[in-house]
Amino acid sequence: MNETQQLLSALSYIPADIQCAQDYELLAPRFIPAPSFAYIAGGSGQDQTLAANRTAFYKWSVCPRLLCDVTQGHTRFNLLNHEFSHPIFLAPVAYQKLAHPQAELETARAAEVMEACMITSTLASTSLEDIAAISNNRNDSNVINKASEKWFQLYFQPSRAATLDLLNRAQAAGYSAIVVTVDASIRTPSMSAVRAHFHMPDDCVAVNVQHYEIPEAHAISAGQSRIFNGAMREAPTWADLEWLLSQTSLPILVKGVLHPQDAQKIRAMGCAGIVVSNHGGRSLDGAPASIDCLAKIRAAVGDDYPVLFDGGIRSGLDIFKAIALGADAVLIGRLQVYAISVAGALGVAHMLRLLREELELCMALAGCANLSDVRNTELELQPR
Ligand SMILES: Cc1cc2nc3c(=O)[nH]c(=O)nc-3n(C[C@H](O)[C@H](O)[C@H](O)COP(=O)(O)O)c2cc1C
Repeated sequence: MNETQQLLSALSYIPADIQCAQDYELLAPRFIPAPSFAYIAGGSGQDQTLAANRTAFYKWSVCPRLLCDVTQGHTRFNLLNHEFSHPIFLAPVAYQKLAHPQAELETARAAEVMEACMITSTLASTSLEDIAAISNNRNDSNVINKASEKWFQLYFQPSRAATLDLLNRAQAAGYSAIVVTVDASIRTPSMSAVRAHFHMPDDCVAVNVQHYEIPEAHAISAGQSRIFNGAMREAPTWADLEWLLSQTSLPILVKGVLHPQDAQKIRAMGCAGIVVSNHGGRSLDGAPASIDCLAKIRAAVGDDYPVLFDGGIRSGLDIFKAIALGADAVLIGRLQVYAISVAGALGVAHMLRLLREELELCMALAGCANLSDVRNTELELQPR
């Protein structure tokens, strides 16, 4: 987009040029101011992991199987004692007001109609209670379908009292699982956001945590490290995860897992599942593409343990590959923000429908009638 082009407000219809889910990524720069777009689209450091998240998908191919009867096909599956109609979840994405004035409320409306599990971020620009009310209201009314599952993503707060308060608020609001993110204990700047002069707008506030007391910064003495002795002092450790498990009966999933031994330890501690993720390339730059970690992690935790996946998913084919490599379900990050910017709830609902149809198309052509068939599909590595 050149400088003279006017930014568009979110549309109340689906633009004709959206043919596939990824098209929302192409259109979003017309709807999101350039600095905010750079913040959302960017990774960390030199964006190596961000790029790897996408390119790593290309080395896998799906060999079609012929003449299979898939007329009874479906995408249903069970996870944590709940039957989901499809494996496409909405990842926790902070500050959605950057993309739409109604922010997470639009995303939640889309999740509701598309029966998608939405994972609300601690750093949402809307209160976790207001977001939950979208589906709670549906529970109250006389509707045929049950409300969709909603989960809450928790960041450990500097004080345990604040963390506990968030946890209790999430439980009271009706969230049925907690996804605790542990891979971003220190903020890593995105060079593209810095170069685009991004600053968080004043009206874009992390309302869920704004009232918690901010502890005084620890004074760093000469010779001490700003990182080790400063920022990392507040970072959670295994002991905090142990403590969190003792504070709730809700299932706890750990997000940001890339190493098989961490996955095994998390399972042994009693967590309900993991999300294989590198935070969409926004944390440690140089971390492996998350799809490259998936099969090893699945092998380490066994077939029956809930493993979710995110990072770089832009199509139903990507979802197929993630499930074939061991995921039970996938989380969609940036695409949801791009879709709300273009057409609010309608855009996110449409993006989810496109992804689901792309997945079903891929399943049908690969001869898979259900997600177990997909899990049993051996992908082929492309010759280099
Ligand atoms: C703008 C932005 C904000 C994010 N905020 C959070 C967050 O608050 N909590 C979290 O656990 N992950 C957060 N993530 C990471 C996503 O949950 C997810 O791991 C990642 O976006 C997946 O990669 P994808 O964008 O390629 O789908 C954020 C990602 C983006 C792009």
